[in-house]
Amino acid sequence: MKLDGSIAAVVTGGASGLGEGTARAIAATGAKVAVFDLNEERGEIVAAEIGGVFCKVDVTDDASVAAAFAKARAAHGQERLTVNCAGIATGQKTVSRKKDTGEIRAHDMAQFERTVRVNLFGTFRVLSQSAAGMVTL
Ligand SMILES: NC(=O)c1ccc[n+]([C@@H]2O[C@H](COP(=O)([O-])OP(=O)(O)OC[C@H]3O[C@@H](n4cnc5c(N)ncnc54)[C@H](O)[C@@H]3O)[C@@H](O)[C@H]2O)c1
Repeated sequence: MKLDGSIAAVVTGGASGLGEGTARAIAATGAKVAVFDLNEERGEIVAAEIGGVFCKVDVTDDASVAAAFAKARAAHGQERLTVNCAGIATGQKTVSRKKDTGEIRAHDMAQFERTVRVNLFGTFRVLSQSAAGMVTL
């Protein structure tokens, strides 16, 4: 795919880490980039630095994702490229033993479910809503 100023792109998690690096790399080609992130403060900075638009979003929420796409598309037109980098890491073992008491502890399932909601369902929600826009092209 040839990237240039005619292409609109969306990068989730674009305020930090892998997403920020991706947003900057895509913007360097001349493409228009919408930075999707929960972190408004960092997201606005990154978007301003790359000449893009920041769209506050929680990828775990349908309406929030729809509102972010509406803002991005109003600014740049229908995106042709979407990269999902929004994510969290829980950093907890499947099973662990407490150092002081020796107590064996299973993984905290609430944490695991939160991770799946953001990393898996969030990614699918964004790509599905993006594809729904792309098929109109
Ligand atoms: N960095 C690595 O080397 C690496 C390697 C393998 C996997 N990962 C995974 O990739 C993902 C991104 O890694 P990273 O290093 O860029 O992390 P990061 O924390 O630097 O960036 C993640 C971004 O996602 C955003 N975010 C989190 N939850 C969100 C939500 N609900 N809605 C919208 N935005 C949300 C955060 O605000 C943050 O800006 C993580 O899930 C991480 O575990 C990273």
